[in-house]
Amino acid sequence: MNWNICSCWTGAVVRSITILVVIVTVAELPAVAQSASGNPAPERPWMNVQLSPDERADLVVKEMTLAEKISLLHGTSMKDLSPMSPLAGQSNGGAGYVVGIPRLGIPGIQMSDAAYGVRHSGDNGRYSTALPDDLAGAASWDLDVAYEYGALIGRELRDQGYNMSLGGGVNLAREPRDGRTFEYMGEDPLLAGKMVGQLIKGTQAQHVLGDIKHYALNDQESGRNAVNVNIDKRSMRETDLLAFEIGLRESNAAAVMCSYNRVNGAYACENKYLLTDVLKKAWTFNGFVLSDWGGAHSTAEASAAGLDHEEPGDLFYGAELAKAVNSGQVPLAEVDDHVHRILRSMFARGVIDDPPRKSVVDVVRGFEVAQRIAEQSIVLLKNDRAQLPLDASQLRTIAVIGAHSDLGMLSGGGSAQVDPPGGNAIMPPGEGRTTWQAHIWFPTSPLKAIRARAPAAKVQYDPGTDISSAAALAKAADVAIVFAQQWESEGMDLETLSLPEQQDDLIAQVAAANPHTIVVLETGSPVTMPWAGQVAGILEAWYPGTRGAEAVASILFGDVNPSAKLPITFPKSDTDLPHPTLVKPPKRSTTQPSDSEPWRAIAKGLPVFQVTYDEGLKVGYKWYDAERKEVLFPFGYGLSYTSYSYSNLKLTSGKTIRVSFRLSNTGPRAGAEVAEVYAVLPASAGEPPKRLVGWSKVKLDPGENREVTIEVDPWYLSVFDINRDAWQLQSGEYTFLLGGSSRSLPLKESINLK
Ligand code: BGC
Repeated sequence: MNWNICSCWTGAVVRSITILVVIVTVAELPAVAQSASGNPAPERPWMNVQLSPDERADLVVKEMTLAEKISLLHGTSMKDLSPMSPLAGQSNGGAGYVVGIPRLGIPGIQMSDAAYGVRHSGDNGRYSTALPDDLAGAASWDLDVAYEYGALIGRELRDQGYNMSLGGGVNLAREPRDGRTFEYMGEDPLLAGKMVGQLIKGTQAQHVLGDIKHYALNDQESGRNAVNVNIDKRSMRETDLLAFEIGLRESNAAAVMCSYNRVNGAYACENKYLLTDVLKKAWTFNGFVLSDWGGAHSTAEASAAGLDHEEPGDLFYGAELAKAVNSGQVPLAEVDDHVHRILRSMFARGVIDDPPRKSVVDVVRGFEVAQRIAEQSIVLLKNDRAQLPLDASQLRTIAVIGAHSDLGMLSGGGSAQVDPPGGNAIMPPGEGRTTWQAHIWFPTSPLKAIRARAPAAKVQYDPGTDISSAAALAKAADVAIVFAQQWESEGMDLETLSLPEQQDDLIAQVAAANPHTIVVLETGSPVTMPWAGQVAGILEAWYPGTRGAEAVASILFGDVNPSAKLPITFPKSDTDLPHPTLVKPPKRSTTQPSDSEPWRAIAKGLPVFQVTYDEGLKVGYKWYDAERKEVLFPFGYGLSYTSYSYSNLKLTSGKTIRVSFRLSNTGPRAGAEVAEVYAVLPASAGEPPKRLVGWSKVKLDPGENREVTIEVDPWYLSVFDINRDAWQLQSGEYTFLLGGSSRSLPLKESINLK
């Protein structure tokens, strides 16, 4: 077949030709395959595992027709959304499906959303584990936890027949009211980059393509398809982009998903600076760039800028791309590069040599991993008079109040949503289908878990909707545990960091009635706490996943010693944020498709509005430090049931800066301390007051002490020089600060570098 004679083809013709090619080739399998020239294809030399992924990909590309190449460069639409290619019938039911090329032994790509577990399992009659949300995972500050998190997702994807994950969200929490904050890894590029890197490594080790998203600066959901983000180059390289750079370096992710928004004028999915200059050239990324769903806006421009693959359909990378190639507008070499990147990633990650085999998800293992990760992610924010851990033998009555804590715990919504077993825990049976942006509760009951830990106590529940009844129950109890929640989701932002639905009043009145009040938060973002001074204890449980209640109870009753630290600052109020008011589109812009051809509507483009990130480098704690603002709970903060002390800080410089110190567990319990190292750069660098440059999570028995060394890569001490378009280590004095939170750094030592 010669594509060149068909330069006048319409989309419909191209689609039917593509179907024909697939039908013909499926029928041929596994008989002798035909090459593009009509001759029998050679013995699939690309199946020789001794060759490199690049060599293997090159061999396949040589055999491919243009139609086959183009079929790899777009999706086939998404369940329930039109227009849908009939080829989507072979989809596994995930968010994306790319047809394979059976003639050449290339499998299709079955993509699923998988932020904190595999999506769409309910509709597909399957089961997926819901892990604690991604921000919770980051709160563990534990690289092994991140790996295990990603590995579980990879295993469950394979068990369900997928070979690509669409997890790996790492947009920096520049705007903590962003409705997807729970899907990301917090506000620091080093922490976020390292954690997402390990997560993707864990997923890819299961022979599943990993993805990192949404590249870049998709830091708010309001008007995400319409917003143009203005930011200077240095700031973006040192903040939002650095998280991606580190994540990619650590993981070799197969794919990067470009985002909906524009950055400095150009859509992220056709932004040459982001996709080619930075990602593919400066970072030498050899995987492929896929558009967010409906994020592609052009053919030739996007292709030249570096977009390799369009999702979910073929508005620009189907017939239009064929036309553009035939007219010479898009060079064939460019198409070959897009195809090569996809194939080399498939070879490199093992999805061709070791395709998924459907199996039953290991539910029991999932429960166990989810609980263990939750126990390492829940942050103890306050513990006055050692109120916690609770001693069950001393308690006669416990009041459990609010947030449906009799039945379940909250999860984050949107495309991250994992379906709970048995449906939504707070809906009548049979009505638990997880529809877009429904508030979904997992059937993990805090009330039951607390009763199980304190069998001799009378544990009573009050829904918290009538504040005086809740306060009365609290007054009569030995201890009151109030559960409070704030739901968030893709496609929306929070109006405010305040708790909704009068929960602030509820907590204040319960605390007034009972001095032994503990608050357990189920939130995806920081919240403000006007009542913080009145309660005895506060736990941030995030959206804790399928075994959240059991994990909370283990911490409340001291079976587990909390060891997590905040990956994001909790400010005192919205007015302390860099942008006290979130900038919204003038009129409500579509953030989620709703018409009959939804992707076309987004792709056509919406009226643009501007957001300017003039706080620049000052993201998260760097903002509060630079502005000398008090915060409610600082970045890196979290309490334990034991205590630690730091001594003997020493610095030595070589290829890396070695930060050595002694860490001691000075309290009565075994625990794990996250020791954090921050650096103050020379004044000439023009940086915010300090930045995180390393950490180590160290397990210590009571009374044990240990010599710890953290190696700091000079890159993490560098600044991005826009004139030289490179990272640069400034000469001068660097001060290293060491301690257990960004605002509690007892040791300090300086060194001259260069
Ligand atoms: C989201 C992506 C997601 C995709 C497919 C988009 O709306 O922004 O994160 O992977 O849909 O579901």
